[in-house]
Amino acid sequence: MTVINKPAQRLSDLGVSTADQIPPLFAEVRARFDAESASAHDESSWKQFRDAWLGRKSGVLTLITDNWLKPSSPELKRVVGQELNQLRANVESQIESRRAAIEAGADQAALARERVDLSLPGVARPIGSHHLIRQVFQQIEDIFVSIGFSVVEGPEIETPYYNFEALNIPEYHPVRDDMDTFYLDLPKGAATPLLLRTHTSPMQIRTMEKRQPPVRVIVPGKVYRRDNPDATHSFIFHQVEGLAVDTDITFCDFTGTIEYFLKQFFGAGVKARFRPSYFPFTEPSVEFDVTCVFCGGSGTSAGGGTCSKCKGAGWIELFGAGMVDPAVYGFVKYDPKKVSGFAFGMGIDRLAMLKYGIDDIQVFFQNDVRFLRQFP
Ligand code: FA5
Repeated sequence: MTVINKPAQRLSDLGVSTADQIPPLFAEVRARFDAESASAHDESSWKQFRDAWLGRKSGVLTLITDNWLKPSSPELKRVVGQELNQLRANVESQIESRRAAIEAGADQAALARERVDLSLPGVARPIGSHHLIRQVFQQIEDIFVSIGFSVVEGPEIETPYYNFEALNIPEYHPVRDDMDTFYLDLPKGAATPLLLRTHTSPMQIRTMEKRQPPVRVIVPGKVYRRDNPDATHSFIFHQVEGLAVDTDITFCDFTGTIEYFLKQFFGAGVKARFRPSYFPFTEPSVEFDVTCVFCGGSGTSAGGGTCSKCKGAGWIELFGAGMVDPAVYGFVKYDPKKVSGFAFGMGIDRLAMLKYGIDDIQVFFQNDVRFLRQFP
């Protein structure tokens, strides 16, 4: 018969009739308790152990109370009561200290499992880089900011007034044919047609409307034209406009500024030249060229043949510019007798192609990571 079963029986059934038989009986129970206590090593076995001993209905202590204590004669009851009190104190304190030990052990195990090793190398997350066009914008902005220009931005959706008329391009001017324009579909009765700006030049007007001379700004941004895509044309591309107006700006200031910019951007070795050109909003108007960055201006490729980039000319066309046409000042209420200035408009995609030897403008818009990764 097991110790566990003894408490389930009455003392008389166990043959106990005298007080001196009781302490050995409790000693047996305690020995059993100590043996079981060692096997409660985790939370679930500890709960089982606790219920087996302290459970209200059929825990060992309840059985002893019901079967040994309550039915005993007064003489035995005193000894059973004393022994039971000692046993209860021992059982309760040991069960509590097992619980504390198990909890501490679980905490240690969790700590060991979750420990963060600060000496491990971190996880390197790829964060990408600026698109080459954005990088070129930044280079241009840095150069012009270093000589006193500030950067402004303007709307991509424009009115014909700012995109054309205030730039001295009236409705039937042939130059509008070169800037085949995207118009927005507007509800009938809209106050003015709207279009996607074909160049950044409208910001010349918007800037001069807001500011009085001296004005020195550059305007980076996107522009749109209904051009068929090919290696040098895209229907969306990028320009940087420049405008400087003051009381004493001369043609020398103009060419000096542009030459400074070109040497900073392409390197001290490049030479610049300008040729007469035509824009309705500048007078005189010029087109700037630089010595070919591929053949160094010789017109001959490294292999000895004709340079394919400049087709042997030694020069590459860059962008249009000029002194602001006095007619434009009339639109912004500047006095053309008191002020003078210059303006330029660069195609950024083509500048980037030249600087980095890229021969197809479309790669800027395709987002092929094999291309993008070459310009971290
Ligand atoms: C203009 O847009 C004038 N607003 C520039 C200007 C500003 C002149 C201020 C005088 C004073 P143009 O149409 O030439 O000019 O365009 C300027 C540059 O944009 C060109 O030199 C070229 O580099 C670029 N460009 C023009 N069309 C495209 C296209 N479809 N795709 C890519 N780049 C283009």
